[in-house]
Amino acid sequence: MERIEAVLKENRRFEPPEEFRKRARIQSEAEYEALYRESLEDPEAFWGRVAEELHWFEPWTQVLEWNPPHARWFVNGKTNLSYNALDRHVATWRKNKAAIIWEGEPGEERVLTYHDLWREVQRFANALKQLGVGKGDRVTIYMPMIPETAIAMLACARIGAVHSVVFGGFSANALAERIKDAEAKLLITADGGYRRGRVVPLKAQADEALAETPSVEHVVVVRRTGEAVPMQPGRDHWYHELVESVPDHCPPEVMDAEDPLFILYTSGSTGKPKGVLHTTGGYMVYTYLTTKLVFDLKDEDTYWCTADVGWITGHSYIVYGPLVNGATTLMYEGAPNHPEPDRFWRIVDKYGVTIFYTAPTAIRAFMKWGEAWPRKHRLDSLRLLGTVGEPINPEAWLWYHQVIGQGRCPIVDTWWQTETGGIMITTLPGAHAAKPGFAGKPFFGVAPEIRDAEGNRVETPEEGGYLVLTRPWPSMLRTVWGDPERYRRQYWSQYPDAYFTGDGARRDADGYYLILGRVDDVLNVAGHRLGTMELESALVSHPDVAEAAVVGRPHPEKGEAIVAFVTLKSHARPSEALREALKAHVANTIGPIARPDEIRFAEALPKTRSGKIMRRLLRQIAAGETEIKGDTSTLEDREVVEQLKRGE
Ligand code: WT7
Repeated sequence: MERIEAVLKENRRFEPPEEFRKRARIQSEAEYEALYRESLEDPEAFWGRVAEELHWFEPWTQVLEWNPPHARWFVNGKTNLSYNALDRHVATWRKNKAAIIWEGEPGEERVLTYHDLWREVQRFANALKQLGVGKGDRVTIYMPMIPETAIAMLACARIGAVHSVVFGGFSANALAERIKDAEAKLLITADGGYRRGRVVPLKAQADEALAETPSVEHVVVVRRTGEAVPMQPGRDHWYHELVESVPDHCPPEVMDAEDPLFILYTSGSTGKPKGVLHTTGGYMVYTYLTTKLVFDLKDEDTYWCTADVGWITGHSYIVYGPLVNGATTLMYEGAPNHPEPDRFWRIVDKYGVTIFYTAPTAIRAFMKWGEAWPRKHRLDSLRLLGTVGEPINPEAWLWYHQVIGQGRCPIVDTWWQTETGGIMITTLPGAHAAKPGFAGKPFFGVAPEIRDAEGNRVETPEEGGYLVLTRPWPSMLRTVWGDPERYRRQYWSQYPDAYFTGDGARRDADGYYLILGRVDDVLNVAGHRLGTMELESALVSHPDVAEAAVVGRPHPEKGEAIVAFVTLKSHARPSEALREALKAHVANTIGPIARPDEIRFAEALPKTRSGKIMRRLLRQIAAGETEIKGDTSTLEDREVVEQLKRGE
């Protein structure tokens, strides 16, 4: 491959290939502009028209009711998401179309048609009802990436139960915290799942969590690995036994557009994860339209998003968005490099994947593993590529474009958040040129702005500022579960008239946004969001730790690496063994994704005279900068910084 560094200096634009453009759903910038303008000038007409493409038991009386910061969309409308994802298609030729193509890490294959999925969902919905779950009850889902995970989500949606999916990589402790916060009545888990050839002992971790969660009355266990797991009589039930004895017909619960659909926990700038609440109607309509237009989705596509269902990407763009569109969505259980680093390309080749959506951190790993792996497989079926989760460096963008897309596939770099529910900023692949590193333009109805710290629109957006959204959109979070005050404070208090994203951004003369990353105390490690406070509380819960401060350091593959500065209690001494013990302690407390990359023992942490840790300095020290830049006049003890730099 030619050296791509040379082109990094260029401001290259990649126009949509003509072949792609002329078949695309949106084919020109002018078409985008006209629709975008309408979506802002008359959002009610725009979103009303989109919503009419879906099924409602009763129509809405008003498209939007906006009492900042509270929005209600499709007011009084009655619908059901599982009905729109399943029944609507089963009534058409799509009945026998593949809804989910699944591949397990060990290599098993399963295909569920819309009809199959419809029946499975109804059966499991009946099983949930039999266990006493009803509308409004919370159900926690702690599962590997298997079809039953999607079935469980859809079954909850069918009966109006609110699901809270907890990523299977989280620890027992993190699971317990999330179950308790949601006061879940039921937990759905599996005996285990496969990851890099090993079994992840989900049931064992669930049992540990359940010791602290009195709200859980029943546990449903899917048999995945066949490993022996203890089953507590009266509490634990095998999934396959439950669904054997129930009817496969379960009418959908009539849900109000604003009835809760799910809670998904995400990290913020305090120690406690936030339960982001999404509701039914707006989320359904927005994920439907973004999936259709951003991925230019057609009935003939085989669409694959490589995220885990434990994250928002999996909710919106593996399960709900694709299924509401009647698409074929592929689900893969395991690691990208098991048994070898070509697993993803093998899957693309085997199933003829046409649309592929992954994270920059994965692309950087593929680059490191080398081109020989993708070159072993036919990737000709691919027609569109996407990325999400963190800024993509132009080098990785160009590699993705040349090696995976073979120069033929547009790339959509989609910026959004757990809180936004769906894609907010992106190019539309048939309408816009892509610029490596730039996410692109606002999606329909989205009104971004770049502000300064005082809340004014910046005069020079190309130099950057804080990214805010000034209009409500259908899939915006409605609240933080159990903490409405935090919702207001977190998102709507920095600027009284806008949603604060927590990201910095720049905008160029063409109106393209480039996302700079988080400006708050949130790290983005390999596309996973982690709060520094969460990591710090995990560290100080270790008996040897007195104080801890965690910062991110730029990392070539993961985007950011976790560096923890730790001061010890007087009885403890720094050692390599303690370093390893602390890393393991954090991994056990939160999950393996939170394992610090580096622990630095320190005599003291740099603080202001009022006692606030100066993270800005720590970030510079962690990055290995020898000259500390910026104002240090508020620093209480300058010697602390010198010590830290010397690594004493
Ligand atoms: C944060 C949200 C949205 C699903 C995955 C992450 C960062 C997300 C991009 C992108 C630059 C991005 C932001 C955002 N982010 N997509 N295309 N370019 N940064 O969801 O865990 O809620 O994290 O991810 O910093 O605020 P999340």
